[in-house]
This record gives sequence, C-alpha cells and structure tokens, in this order.
Amino acid sequence: MSMKKSAYSIRGYVITLAIGWTLVVIASLAWNFLQLRQHEENEAYGRAAAVYESDITYRRWNAGHGGVYVPVTAKMQPNPYFKDIPERDIKTTDGRSFTLVNPAFMMRQVHELVLKEGGGTGHLTSLNPLRPENRPDVWEVEALKAFEKGVSEFKYIKKRNNGKRYMRLMRPLVTEEECLKCHAKQGYKLGDIRGGISTEVLVLPLMDDMRISLLFGHGAIWILVLSIILIGGGKQEITERELSKYRDHLENLVEDRTVELESKNNELKQFAHTVSHDLKTPLSGVLGYLECLIEDLKKQRYEEVMRDALRTKDIAKKMNQMIDRILTLAKSGEIVDLAMRISMKDIVQEVIYFTATGSGKKKIDIKISNELPEVSGDKVRLIQVVQNLISNAIKYMGDQQKPCIEIGSYKEKNENVFFVKDNGIGIEAKYKDEIFSLFRQLRHGSAGIGAGLAIVKRIIEVHGGRIWAESDGVGKGSTFYFTFPL
Ligand code: HEC
Repeated sequence: MSMKKSAYSIRGYVITLAIGWTLVVIASLAWNFLQLRQHEENEAYGRAAAVYESDITYRRWNAGHGGVYVPVTAKMQPNPYFKDIPERDIKTTDGRSFTLVNPAFMMRQVHELVLKEGGGTGHLTSLNPLRPENRPDVWEVEALKAFEKGVSEFKYIKKRNNGKRYMRLMRPLVTEEECLKCHAKQGYKLGDIRGGISTEVLVLPLMDDMRISLLFGHGAIWILVLSIILIGGGKQEITERELSKYRDHLENLVEDRTVELESKNNELKQFAHTVSHDLKTPLSGVLGYLECLIEDLKKQRYEEVMRDALRTKDIAKKMNQMIDRILTLAKSGEIVDLAMRISMKDIVQEVIYFTATGSGKKKIDIKISNELPEVSGDKVRLIQVVQNLISNAIKYMGDQQKPCIEIGSYKEKNENVFFVKDNGIGIEAKYKDEIFSLFRQLRHGSAGIGAGLAIVKRIIEVHGGRIWAESDGVGKGSTFYFTFPL
C-alpha cells in the first residue's frame, strides 16, 4: 500500500516538473522571439526616421531659397499648382527655359527616384492640400489631427498582403518663415501645422539566423534537462520502491520476532509454573518430616528422630537432583550454531559406535533402514538427542529375547521425520505425553538422573521441530518420532 502510494506521488512530481520545465522553455523562447521582433522594428524605425530627416533637410534647403529653378525638359514640366507665382518660368539670355521647383514637388520627384531603387517612401500630405493628390489616407488623417493637438510622432506596423511587415512613421511639418511665401495665401501662420511627412519602410527579417539558433539552443537544453528529470525520477521511483520493500520486510521481521518472543515468554511462564509446582511437592514433604522431628524431640522419641531425619535428607537429595536437571534443561536451549549442515547418518553411526549393545544371545540388533538426510543444526546437541533416544530404547528393552532397534526417516510435507523404533516394554497410553516432562522419572521412582526426554524435546523445539512417542501398549514396543523443518 504505502509502497504504491509513494511511487505514484513521485510519478506525479516528475510529470509536474517536466511540464513546468517545458513551460519555462516555451516562455523563454517566446520572450526571446519578441525581443528579436522588437529589435527589427527598432531598426526599421531608425530607417524611417532617417528618411524623414533627409526629406526635411533638403526641403528646408529648397524652401530657404524660395524654391529652386531647374531647366524645363520633357519630364520636368512647370508645376501647375504654382501658377500664382509670377516668376515661375524664366528664360535666360541664351534662350533656355527654367521653372521654379517648390519643396513638395522636389520631394515627390526625389521619392520617385528612391522608389525605383527600392528604399523607403515619404509622403507629403496635409488636411488642407493645395494639390488634391496630396490628400491623406485614413491613418494619416488621424495622425495629422493628433499633431494639431501637440503629438509629435505617429507610428505603427502594417502587415501588407504580401505577408511583409512595414513600419509607418509620420511627423508634422510646421509652417516656417520661408513657407509663407507660397502658403500664406491659404491662411497659414507661423507655427501652424502645415501638414506632415509619412514615411514607410520594410521591416527587414534581420534576425532569422538568430531565431534558428535560439530554437535549436532551447530545444537542446529542453531535451537535456527533460531527460535528467525523467531518468532521475525513474531512479528515485526505484529507490523508493526498494525502500518500502525493505520497510515492509522490517515490519514483518518485527512481527515475527514479537510472536516468537511471546511464545518464548509463555514457554518460560509454563516452565516456571511446572518447576515451582514440582519443587513444592518434595518441599512440603521436608516440612512435614521436620514437623514430625520437632514432635519426636518434644516427646523424646529418639528412635523416630533418626528415621525422620534420614527421610528428610532423602527428599532434600532428590530436590537437589531436580534443581540440577532444571539447570541442564536451561542449558540445553543454548545452541551454538543452527545453520551447520549435518549428516544424520554420521551422527547415528557415531552414537551406535559408542553405545554398549550387550553380547551373546541378547545382543541388541540396531539397524538403519534408509539413507538418512542432512539437517541444519548444532552437532553436539543432535548427538545428545540420538544418544538419549537409543539409550532409552536399550534401557526399556525388558525381557525381549530378540531385542531390536530400527532407525529411519521419511519426508512429509515440509519436514523430515526421523524415528527410533524398538520392540521393548512399550509405553502406557496415559504416559505418552508425560514422559517428556522434567520430573517424570523422579515422580515414578525410576532410575537415572539425566533430564532425558525433557532435554531432547527442548533441543528439537529449538531446532524448529516436534517430538512425540507412539506405542501400541505395554510390551508392544515404542517408536519415538522427531522432525526437522526442510
Ligand atoms: C516656392 C513655393 C513654396 C514654398 C517656399 C513652400 N511651398 Fe509648400 N507647396 C507649394 C506648392 C505649389 C504646393 C502644391 C503642389 C505640389 O504638391 O507640388 C505645395 C505643397 C505643400 C504641401 C503638400 C500639401 C498640399 O498642400 O498639397 C505641404 C505639406 C507643404 N507644401 C508644406 C510647405 C512647408 C512646411 C513649407 C516651408 C518649409 C513650404 N511648403 C514651402 C509651394 C511652396
């Protein structure tokens, strides 16, 4: 659950980052392109202004002379709008004809030349034109009206049908002293806006190379950073997955350990309960006999004193043995190494080799019925187990004429089951479980002080296995089974 969730949140984060980065690149590109366009327009503005400046300069030169005379040719015919001026046309003494050229006329002719050479155009116009062809277009009317209100410049970018962009720039023409010679008749006074010159130049696509390199540069950086984001994000996602896998593993481990600890704790409680219960029985015996002793002493029954003291001593001895067993059992839980691979066959053969099997007729026949498998565990402890089971089988053989012990194994589900089978005295059904308890032998007064089966059981359980006994009844032999997990 937590694993998927964090992996998804990383994916979302990476996608957001990638989109964000793409937007940044697009924004930067757009800004740069806008900047280039601005640059080109500024350049066009500069050229348009230059056209205006030169126009105004030679116009002023012409006006300063009150117009200039040029020879009359086929192309250069006298200006018809100029007929009021008496000296418009003159003849030199050698018979050549000259005509007066006013600034507007001169400018028109100059621009005809410029147009032929592909430069910018200038248009002289007025809201009140002397020559009807000089009338303004819609935009120029707007500009001229604005000039009368004090605006000093008008410009805009016009996109023509050919797809090209043009910068249109217009500035006013003010009535000066020289102008009055020819324009005073129209009612113009010094300082009036006589009209304006509107210039128009092509906005040149100067920055196309720059645009291409910007496009490639941005593209390269975009792809580079994007792949870093995606690769980094992918890696982060994998790490996150591994981390949560590890977290889950740790959680499981803690759970397992807790369960294990709880069961150990329960085992300990039960053990303490059994031990104290079992020790209490002889202890109350001791107390009872001591009571008798005191009575005997009071009544001066000295022959009884001796007997009670000996009994007390007997019980105390047994208690001492019991405590020894408890210690042995506690130690049997200390396993040196559980991970060693050990051959069960070797262990059984070793134990048989060192076991006294009697002689003659009653010699015990011990056989191994199949190839015993390997198990993982502590060799010394396993020897202890086999030793105990075999010597028990020998000890409880009874009067059997053909004593026989069989050791074998088989596989069942996920464990190896081993068995030690004898044809001895067998076990009464009601004792089948009790034989594994710590103080059984003491309670039933049989011989030996080894904690025996209780220790065997403990060792098997520490190795993760189980142990139990089966018998068809008294005199019918018994079989001890124990298991090891695969
Ligand atoms: C020598 C006479 C003369 C002088 C000086 C003169 N103009 Fe003109 N101007 C004319 C004539 C004639 C026209 C109309 C015919 C044409 O367009 O050629 C005209 C046209 C114009 C026009 C175009 C609009 C229209 O009325 O047709 C403007 C604007 C203009 N003059 C401004 C000026 C200014 C400003 C000055 C002073 C710097 C000036 N002129 C000096 C004779 C003159």
